[in-house]
Amino acid sequence: MTADDVAYLPETPAHDPEIEAINEEAFGPGRFVRAAYKIREGGPHERALSFVAMDGGHVVASVRMTRVAAGAGRALMLGPLAVKPAYKNVGIGRRLVKIAVEAAERAGAGAVILVGDEPYYGPLGFRRIPRGQVSMPRPVDLGRVLAYELKPGAVALIQGMIDHEDRLRVTA
Ligand SMILES: CC(C)(COP(=O)(O)OP(=O)(O)OC[C@H]1O[C@@H](n2cnc3c(N)ncnc32)[C@H](O)[C@@H]1OP(=O)(O)O)[C@@H](O)C(=O)NCCC(=O)NCCS
Repeated sequence: MTADDVAYLPETPAHDPEIEAINEEAFGPGRFVRAAYKIREGGPHERALSFVAMDGGHVVASVRMTRVAAGAGRALMLGPLAVKPAYKNVGIGRRLVKIAVEAAERAGAGAVILVGDEPYYGPLGFRRIPRGQVSMPRPVDLGRVLAYELKPGAVALIQGMIDHEDRLRVTA
């Protein structure tokens, strides 16, 4: 099995049950209390910028993207990213991140942000957002808030509380 042996497709509603099962297996019930989950609760994710890896008609990995805002900044938040255990460590996770970032760039996004492990995402182009620049609606290790800048200056505009872009529209 290599990362080329699976098909990478934009997500559709038909994929939802399998994606939910993969995320349950990867993150367990603890996923519901995570800061990123709280943000994602604020509205829908961007299906057109979210992707699945398929093998034999089944979803084996998933990455989702959600529009977020903070201060004058706008970004796509990547996550959850999860790969079925039997498909781990062949590069599918890395490939999905690359596909999602490229799709975000094509869609005109200034940055992609996420909460995740720097040792994994650093080599993929993500850098820490400077401490004190942003916060989240639930406690989060700020050393794990990372950004991939697609347009120069876009990350500097992301200031303060990060939330789903729809919540900002409602309260604006
Ligand atoms: C993390 C995850 C998405 C990686 O997907 P994957 O397809 O197995 O990863 P890839 O094949 O692209 O990359 C594998 C490499 O990343 C490394 N890696 C995996 N998770 C890592 C982590 N948390 N920190 C640092 N390195 C990590 C592996 O050791 C491996 O290293 P190697 O290439 O030197 O052998 C997958 O393991 C998973 O679903 N984990 C559970 C959910 C999760 O933690 N998601 C990330 C949330 S931010």
